Amino acid sequence: MRILVASGPNLQLLGTREPERYGATTLEEIHGRLRQLGTELAVSVDCIQTNHEGVLLDAIAAARGVYAGIVINAGGWTHTSVALRDALLGSAIPFVEVHLSNVAAREPFRHVSYLSDVASGVVFGFGSESYALGLRGLVGRLR
Ligand code: DQA
Repeated sequence: MRILVASGPNLQLLGTREPERYGATTLEEIHGRLRQLGTELAVSVDCIQTNHEGVLLDAIAAARGVYAGIVINAGGWTHTSVALRDALLGSAIPFVEVHLSNVAAREPFRHVSYLSDVASGVVFGFGSESYALGLRGLVGRLR
């Protein structure tokens, strides 16, 4: 079973970006942890990050038939992108939406997600661990 972990805009800055909010762990460290967890769960994990929405849309379209599930932290696109919602629905691949921060406790515009109601599950507020919890939940659901 192959799982795609996708991160959207500005998440390459993790570790130095608002560390009081997002923590000190880098995205590279998160990816390492997820690959290790993938080994424990007997799934293969590929990780991508992009600041370009079209690149993410193309990656999701190409994921069909390759990946059994997607863990996605869409960053700011979560709250803005109908196109991303459509790409995920169009791929028909089950996905889990994750966020490091507790988006429900932040600005009102972050309370809106274009993804949550069509996601298999949503995890937010656990810092970098949100990704690992999302991966575990997704693999459990797929099995
Ligand atoms: C985020 C929350 C989003 O609102 C924000 O735009 C991000 C990070 C999170 O992981 O907490 O870029 O997705």
